[in-house]
Amino acid sequence: MNLPFGAKLTGVGGAVPAQVVTNADLEKLVDTSDEWITTRTGIRERRIVTQGETATSLAIEAAKQAISYAGVDPSIIDLIIVATSTPDNLYPSTACMIQASIGASHSAAFDLEAACTGIIYALAVAQQFIGSGTYKTVLIIGVDVHSRFLNWEDRNTCVLFGDGAGALLLQASEEENNILATYLRADGTGGHLLQIPNLGTNYPHAGSTPPKAMHRFLHMNGRAVYGFAINAVPEAVRAACVKAGIAVEDIDFLVPHQANRRIINAAAERLGLRQEQIVCNVDQYGNTSAASIPLALRDGIMRGQIKPPATCVLVGFGGGLTWGSAIIRWTACNHKKEKA
Ligand SMILES: CC(C)(COP(=O)(O)OP(=O)(O)OC[C@H]1O[C@@H](n2cnc3c(N)ncnc32)[C@H](O)[C@@H]1OP(=O)(O)O)[C@@H](O)C(=O)NCCC(=O)NCCS
Repeated sequence: MNLPFGAKLTGVGGAVPAQVVTNADLEKLVDTSDEWITTRTGIRERRIVTQGETATSLAIEAAKQAISYAGVDPSIIDLIIVATSTPDNLYPSTACMIQASIGASHSAAFDLEAACTGIIYALAVAQQFIGSGTYKTVLIIGVDVHSRFLNWEDRNTCVLFGDGAGALLLQASEEENNILATYLRADGTGGHLLQIPNLGTNYPHAGSTPPKAMHRFLHMNGRAVYGFAINAVPEAVRAACVKAGIAVEDIDFLVPHQANRRIINAAAERLGLRQEQIVCNVDQYGNTSAASIPLALRDGIMRGQIKPPATCVLVGFGGGLTWGSAIIRWTACNHKKEKA
């Protein structure tokens, strides 16, 4: 892709609620076991919001961390894009509420919805704004609080998700371009496989009764989504490599959507990637949806697994159906900040 200006990733940040919910805690709610959850998904615990915490409050914390990592003044941010499927309100957008709280006084702001692939879509949009020369500094945030939309009596879904936010700061650069390629896909014919169906204009409508509690929850055909994901991930990784003009062997790290360790392992195996190349924190946080990829990237950098310069492939999949990937170069090392 030939855009006039390069985009450099200069800041990473993340935030999760303080409340830890372990598999043992869930054994008290539904007919499940730590053994079942761990072997089928790799998840050991997740973070769940408590009273007063929202998508916006988590996103603000993640945004501040990314801004501080990059060492910039928030007033230079030109645009904030928030990828979320679980906003606090239909409007104002989550992006506008963050804009007001972080001192991004000159920034435009909007939300984008592509479920768990949202951060990849946001990255692609940010790259267009920076690459075209329209904006110099773009903050993208993935945040989801699925715990508010889970049926805590449904063992098929409630064990899988956690709440969180992840943020990336991108800046125009004359010297380097860190986003080598992005690849975005959608297939609405599979929309029914993973949905929170009745919170939009679809329902309630004139003359209807308010939605029953069951209709407000996340519904999923787990087996079908599993089948979709194990094909979508390798396909998206290979497609982004082709667009970037690199081979899969040139990838240093796979930073996948953290839905299920088995999906991640199966995809890595198909791609010929080794275990130590996989960046994974699904055991700690479960599936945090739009937050999962930036949170994993941040954790991989902070714990020293991803050392610059590194070529990383970010790959997401989820509701819509949507899937997509991005090849990025991580070069923004600041050892002092990484140790902090
Ligand atoms: C959900 C998922 C973990 C289930 O694993 P699986 O190996 O496919 O398990 P199955 O669907 O075959 O279910 C096996 C059994 O376990 C049961 N089961 C489901 N959830 C359970 C739980 N939390 N605890 C115990 N048993 C459970 C099922 O009811 C089923 O029982 P049955 O055989 O008596 O009907 C897996 O399909 C998956 O990860 N899918 C993708 C989900 C995903 O990533 N969604 C988000 C995308 S962004």
